[in-house]
Amino acid sequence: MNKSKVFSLAGLLLGVFLLIGCSTATPTRSETGTQPPVVSPEQMDTPTAVDTQVPTEMQEPTIVQVTVETQLPDSNVDYISGGLLYDNWMKQLEVETPAEDQPLWKTQTTNTRSGKDTWRCKECHGWDYKGLEGAYGSGSHFTGFKGVLDSVSMTEDELLAWMDGSENSEHDFSGYFQEAELTLIVNFLKYGLFDTAAYINSDKSVSGGDGSNGKLLYNGLCAACHGEDGRFINFGDEDEPEFVGTIASDNPWEFWHKASFGHPDSQMVSVLRIGWSIQDIADVLTYSQTLPTE
Ligand code: HEC
Ligand code: HEC
Repeated sequence: MNKSKVFSLAGLLLGVFLLIGCSTATPTRSETGTQPPVVSPEQMDTPTAVDTQVPTEMQEPTIVQVTVETQLPDSNVDYISGGLLYDNWMKQLEVETPAEDQPLWKTQTTNTRSGKDTWRCKECHGWDYKGLEGAYGSGSHFTGFKGVLDSVSMTEDELLAWMDGSENSEHDFSGYFQEAELTLIVNFLKYGLFDTAAYINSDKSVSGGDGSNGKLLYNGLCAACHGEDGRFINFGDEDEPEFVGTIASDNPWEFWHKASFGHPDSQMVSVLRIGWSIQDIADVLTYSQTLPTE
């Protein structure tokens, strides 16, 4: 199990900071009272190999005007790494998918996926963290399982009891997560969840985002890897391409989670880690919904 994976984004960040350092931008991001606490650099493991460049196969950013702060805000909890585990802990931790479906999977019949998907937190609890009360309340992802937004009101011990099987023996991840990783997922549940209903409507439109600030943010950061029109990396395949614009329009909740926390086991940046506000995420989502979907 590669422990440094969880923290590999820290190395990438240094690279992003170098890019940002070249620009003359002053932070103009708007503050909202909703920004959760963010990790401080001292609290993270020092990556052994510091990756100071955006990967060479990716394009150079054409616009370096950015509005992100170049300093990590203060706090002593890493709630960001756990967001990657929530997305796909098997990929992030580079562990093999358990041979059987997750034991709780058999308690539902509506979602017919099997194997790896049955173990992903997001598959049962949703990208919006609302389970049956959210976007997975209908359609092929419907399981009828509850969401996790109530985690915010639970103690760390109670959350750990959910993760290690003490609360429900069929909800036991302790055989796959090391102790430190269980702490990361608990921190994410306790401090990292955000109810996107503040911005994302049930018809997938976004309210309250500033698309022109979003464009600046997008071009200053995301375009370096995804291209100015978001089509540089295809997450789907030739027949059914998926680009930044596709995810933003089809699944804004997934977009929100990925932008916030990054993409498991990849070079993708977590914008929370580099100090973006919740409003900044809404802005970049608003802009990304204008990018081509195919
Ligand atoms: C196979 C589906 C499934 C997967 C995968 C899954 N859960 Fe759950 N989870 C459930 C179900 C069902 C419950 C409620 C069980 C009960 O009431 O005993 C639950 C309960 C919880 C709760 C308690 C929620 C509350 O308000 O009481 C938390 C927190 C939680 N899960 C987090 C996670 C995290 C984090 C992951 C990924 C590491 C995860 N779950 C993966 C199905 C799943
Ligand atoms: C350093 C390069 C890099 C930067 C910067 C970056 N990404 Fe990514 N992003 C990636 C990679 C690599 C992937 C994974 C692609 C894959 O293999 O599927 C990814 C994945 C994604 C996905 C999920 C695709 C899926 O499979 O569902 C979204 C959405 C996304 N990026 C949006 C953004 C946005 C928005 C920004 C700016 C806030 C951004 N990215 C910045 C490299 C980057």
